[in-house]
Amino acid sequence: MKKYRICILGGTGFLGKHLVSRLATEGHEIRVLTRHRERHRDLLVLPTLSLVQTDIHDELALKKAFAGQDVIINLVGILNERGHKGRGFQHAHVQLAQKVVQACEANKIMRLLHMSALHANPQKKTSHYLFTKGQAEELVHAVNNLQVTSFRPSVIFGPGDSFINRFYQLLKIMPIAMPLACANTRFAPIYVGDVVEAIVKSLHNPETIGQRYELCGPKTYTLKQLVEYTASFLPYKRTIISLPHSVSLLQAYMLEYFPGKPFSIDNFHSLQLDSVCNNPFPAIFGLQLHKLEEIVPRYLTNSSQRGHYHNFRRAAGQYSRQRL
Ligand SMILES: NC(=O)c1ccc[n+]([C@@H]2O[C@H](COP(=O)([O-])OP(=O)(O)OC[C@H]3O[C@@H](n4cnc5c(N)ncnc54)[C@H](OP(=O)(O)O)[C@@H]3O)[C@@H](O)[C@H]2O)c1
Repeated sequence: MKKYRICILGGTGFLGKHLVSRLATEGHEIRVLTRHRERHRDLLVLPTLSLVQTDIHDELALKKAFAGQDVIINLVGILNERGHKGRGFQHAHVQLAQKVVQACEANKIMRLLHMSALHANPQKKTSHYLFTKGQAEELVHAVNNLQVTSFRPSVIFGPGDSFINRFYQLLKIMPIAMPLACANTRFAPIYVGDVVEAIVKSLHNPETIGQRYELCGPKTYTLKQLVEYTASFLPYKRTIISLPHSVSLLQAYMLEYFPGKPFSIDNFHSLQLDSVCNNPFPAIFGLQLHKLEEIVPRYLTNSSQRGHYHNFRRAAGQYSRQRL
């Protein structure tokens, strides 16, 4: 199997951490760019990984950081911005994608794996999130001589996720009942391990070049069903109350101004679309998809941090065995 020098943006996030531990088992040389090196030192347990503190929005710094790499993987994405007008989304998604492309060109890097989102659309401004994700995807695929594969997942679950885990934490502090906005929106959650496998298989398969893959899990649920399922792991009962459309919007307006924006108007707009795929999971990856009910019980009952550490140790161990 060919080993690559791979530079990853967003490699310290939820998906990134799962991806780097998988890539390390194949012995690739991994360079993760981060704004906060100290915070992510746990990644250094992986023997072929280097963690480089870089301002990826600085064009010169990015060009320098890409030097000597074969492949770039861009996983940077935000669900909320600091302001309210979409500038933060433009900056993190579109302007960054432009800088990534330029830094690839400057370093003669031919291969880019790009993380987009299901229903990302540069033609329609459903939300700033989906609009700018669509613009970024369009931009990278339009570049001549750059071999791009992009991924458009529905919501991703697994140890360390900020979807199931976030609802679990919220449910713990809610007294008796939890009011839920956009409760009828449908999702096809996909396991992080399956997304990682799709990315790794794309790395090795030239047939994936130029493709955009929608990634959905095997089953569809409403948001209410997912939150009720999460609540079933608590030792006490919680009732989920679906909010009507107008009250959901009101909740978004209010929470938009809470510290950390737990829910925003932009999230509300994104949730007006069902996050489900039109087509079956891409056969090219040959995956047997994991079911939510098979995975979630494993991490809701364990500490996700411990789970991550275990993954890194396992990846480090496999790598050492391969070299012996
Ligand atoms: N999780 C999901 O359910 C889901 C669903 C669909 C699509 N996606 C897409 O998949 C990708 C990975 O998602 P994730 O859940 O792993 O995200 P995440 O946990 O939030 O991680 C994203 C990483 O990107 C970097 N980053 C974030 N904002 C940045 C900014 N403004 N400038 C520079 N770097 C920034 C951060 O790295 P540092 O702090 O180390 O710099 C962070 O670790 C994203 O593009 C997301 O949109 C995710």
